Amino acid sequence: MKFVVTAGPTREPIDPVRFLSNRSSGKMGYAIAAAALESDHDVVLISGPVHLAPPAGAKLVNVITSDEMYAAVHEAVRDGDVLVMGAAVSDYKPARVAKTKIKKCDENFSLDLIPTRDVLKSLPRSRNFFVVGFAAETNDVEEHARAKLATKNCDMMVANDVSDPTIGMESDENAVTIFSRNGEIEKISRASKKIIARTLVKKICANAKKVLTKNF
Ligand code: CTP
Repeated sequence: MKFVVTAGPTREPIDPVRFLSNRSSGKMGYAIAAAALESDHDVVLISGPVHLAPPAGAKLVNVITSDEMYAAVHEAVRDGDVLVMGAAVSDYKPARVAKTKIKKCDENFSLDLIPTRDVLKSLPRSRNFFVVGFAAETNDVEEHARAKLATKNCDMMVANDVSDPTIGMESDENAVTIFSRNGEIEKISRASKKIIARTLVKKICANAKKVLTKNF
């Protein structure tokens, strides 16, 4: 199968020296790319700025902004079988990017932000690739993850509780709950992201084979 995996944060420029971003390290996405390669799948890894070496054999596409992420995903899924949206795409970006460095002054300063495009929501409803989203939540994890599965039109939503600093964002370990469109729920208890990624890839492949009308 051809996996398209996104990982890491995006950066939304404010001026030539500043940007808005988030704490995503890219570790979960990179582990999924590595696990898919291990199982002999083709992998396109679309990565925001991270400090990780790409797994050998992945086709790496580097992006910075949410708009670049959007374009790269739409290009890569044209002949993809599975999309795993592990990236923490910024939800907002500055309405205007200053051409020169914004100078400090003594008054309060506010930034006008506009929503970015939601990559998952932008995908066609009728498609021949399997879509996996991630839900990073600090509270009411199950309720939010189920809502995202539906509104983002995913086949599978992988939820992780990012309120625990020892797992999830930036950490080498994770614990996730997988919600499938068919109502199935599976918990993967705390383990290294490498182990979680292997389990996820197996489950994604098994479900994708059931849903897609292609021969693998
Ligand atoms: N996502 C996306 N495009 C965006 C923002 C998020 O495709 N502009 C994807 C992420 O890659 C992830 C899923 O949507 O797979 C859920 O991301 P998350 O940050 O948990 O949710 P948001 O939609 O940003 O909602 P909120 O921040 O309100 O929880």
